[in-house]
Amino acid sequence: MPEGAADLDRLEAEARAALAAARDVQALVEARARCLGRKGSISTLLRGLGALPPDERARAGEAVNAVRDRLEAFADARRTELEQESVSRDLERGRIDVTLPGVPSHAGRLHAVTRAERDICTFFASLGFSVEEGPEVELERYNFDALNIPDDHPARDSHDTFYVRPGVVLRTHTSPVQIRTMTGRTPPFRFIAPGRVYRHDASPRHSPMFSQVEGFLVDERATFADLKGVLYAFARHLLGPATRLRFRASFFPFTEPSAELDFGCVLCEGRGCATCSRTGWIEWGGCGMIHPKVLENCGIDPERWQGFAFGMGMERAAMMRHNVPQIRLLYEPDVRLLEQL
Ligand code: DAH
Repeated sequence: MPEGAADLDRLEAEARAALAAARDVQALVEARARCLGRKGSISTLLRGLGALPPDERARAGEAVNAVRDRLEAFADARRTELEQESVSRDLERGRIDVTLPGVPSHAGRLHAVTRAERDICTFFASLGFSVEEGPEVELERYNFDALNIPDDHPARDSHDTFYVRPGVVLRTHTSPVQIRTMTGRTPPFRFIAPGRVYRHDASPRHSPMFSQVEGFLVDERATFADLKGVLYAFARHLLGPATRLRFRASFFPFTEPSAELDFGCVLCEGRGCATCSRTGWIEWGGCGMIHPKVLENCGIDPERWQGFAFGMGMERAAMMRHNVPQIRLLYEPDVRLLEQL
């Protein structure tokens, strides 16, 4: 035997140490190949036995085989151990501490103006009004001309109107929806048109973008008294049964006669506060009997048909409903503030 019993013991000890040193299954597989594989130290030893005399060969063979069996068993045991360690490590890494506080999630809510708008649509639906829409980028023709607003009217001035390009504006009111809805159709009409409008005018009491709701009714017998009845019902639904309204004679090119409409300030109950400029009243919008020219511009015979229209600010109503003193606060991107609405 080229190596004596002491050498065999050393070889076994080294192989064991190499197997034991493997820190993971991959390293173990490699260590195992080095000592027990076909080109490993044990196989080399076994092949060398052929050179021994026959009586020694059998004994030496037995001894080497015994070492190989022990090493195989040791490697198997080590593999099981390493696999268990790896499972425990994975479990440890993925452990969840169910006692830790969770990550808070904020539930979204509808904005106060959106809620007012939906409420308004539902209310008018109960009176048989449909809901119509128009684009926010509008033709000057619909925003002004067809509504009987003369070329030299100050509202066309670029101080008030955002011009997108010649002939195209950001609509300054929801009234152009009147024209879009009536053109090509025949009366009677009964609709509202809520939406955003834009004006070049920003102060604590005004915002360059705000929302209006247009109301419109055309039939053969509509009167100013009907208009007042609808507006009282609307205001009292929105702001409470004690709401007071004030109609002030006014002028709009698209109505005749025309009135501006105020409601009694809800915040101070009419006593006067900063929001209503100490008057007890808040301007809400305009209204009137539809001008015959507007009907004509839409191909409708004003001898036969008549009606009323109104346009109201929606923020004003939302402010009253939520005790917000300034329109700016409605559009402040501050969640702490919005959450209170
Ligand atoms: N469009 C007007 C404005 O924004 C409001 C208005 C007044 C609308 C009278 C109407 C109306 O429909 O009849 O100032």
